Amino acid sequence: MQETAWQVSLVLMLMITFGVVFVAINSGKREEEYGPLVKRAYSFRTKLFWAVALVFFPAMIYNLMGLPYSPKAVASSGPAQVINVTGHMWYWEMDRDQVEPNQPVDIRVTSADVNHGFGIYDSDLRLIAQAQAMPGYTNVIHITFPKEGTYRVLCMEYCGVAHHNMMTEIKVGKS
Ligand code: CUA
Repeated sequence: MQETAWQVSLVLMLMITFGVVFVAINSGKREEEYGPLVKRAYSFRTKLFWAVALVFFPAMIYNLMGLPYSPKAVASSGPAQVINVTGHMWYWEMDRDQVEPNQPVDIRVTSADVNHGFGIYDSDLRLIAQAQAMPGYTNVIHITFPKEGTYRVLCMEYCGVAHHNMMTEIKVGKS
């Protein structure tokens, strides 16, 4: 077994050696015929490089901008505003309901009894953020409200007969 492996390796090494020798002998022989071909290949390669560079670098930079540690994100992050929220059957308890626009907000969501769903809706009643309100856990929403206005909060999980009463508001504007 060992012997067979050695013989196979030997044959392969010989083949590679012959290949290298063959290329070495033949290289330089017909260089003039390759000249135009090489030139074309190089110009194609250059074009390809610029195409890749022009497409992928902006795409990469664009994608990286959204990362939390990008310079833009770091620059806009002052001390975060915090809203502590507790869900109860059947109301929301919030320690503040007014925040600044274009400033990061941490909304810390928990529950005093059963699971609720803390959903924030904009003025067109589009859901813009949500977190599960769970007893014994605090789920944090990191959000920056881009527009001033009143955002509605609705409960998103059926939690009993007065589930639909669990509404409140967050006001976004200069204090
Ligand atoms: Cu709380 Cu539904």
